[in-house]
Amino acid sequence: MSKLMLSSFAVLEPVSDGFRNFLLKNYTVSPEEMMLDKAQLLGLSAPEMTVLVGGLRSMGVSSDDRGLFTDGSSLSTGFFTTLLDMNVQWKATGSNSYEAHDRASGELVRRASRYDLVFGSNSQLRAIAEVYAQDDNKDKFVQDFISAWNKVMNADRFDLA
Ligand code: HEM
Repeated sequence: MSKLMLSSFAVLEPVSDGFRNFLLKNYTVSPEEMMLDKAQLLGLSAPEMTVLVGGLRSMGVSSDDRGLFTDGSSLSTGFFTTLLDMNVQWKATGSNSYEAHDRASGELVRRASRYDLVFGSNSQLRAIAEVYAQDDNKDKFVQDFISAWNKVMNADRFDLA
């Protein structure tokens, strides 16, 4: 690609996309605040943002291994059930990276970003994560994911009434 084309596209490059766990570099604003901002611009409610992020992670969507708590083969509530697992202790390893170690063995079991962990640390988002982690809410999770997914796919579709 020519240099001119690259520079004209460069301004379009997203700097932060919490839905796919992507942060270009560190900013003064926290990653989770940027995710919330983008969700609001997409017209998503807090439950819709939550179900989308959790569902996308369960299907293996992340810029690396952070936030991938399941084998990534299916749409499941695994992101939420694992996030709320109290058997691990989270430790910061960078400004947007955390490692979970088993409390008993000290073994490293998973990694996550601030985009992921905010669903456990923010009280309002945690309340929503707990709803989706409930054993009897697997169907609700799938239905809500489908609705939120359709909402994003149809956003700005002026041809729809
Ligand atoms: C519910 C599902 C999805 C959500 C919540 C979502 C959300 C986002 C967000 C927040 C950005 C960053 C925009 C920015 O910062 O400027 C983005 C970028 C992008 N998304 Fe998605 N996305 C979804 C599905 C998809 C799908 C299915 C595709 C392709 C078929 C797609 C293609 C893209 C592309 C190409 C970009 C980069 C270009 C741009 O910023 O406009 N996304 N998405």
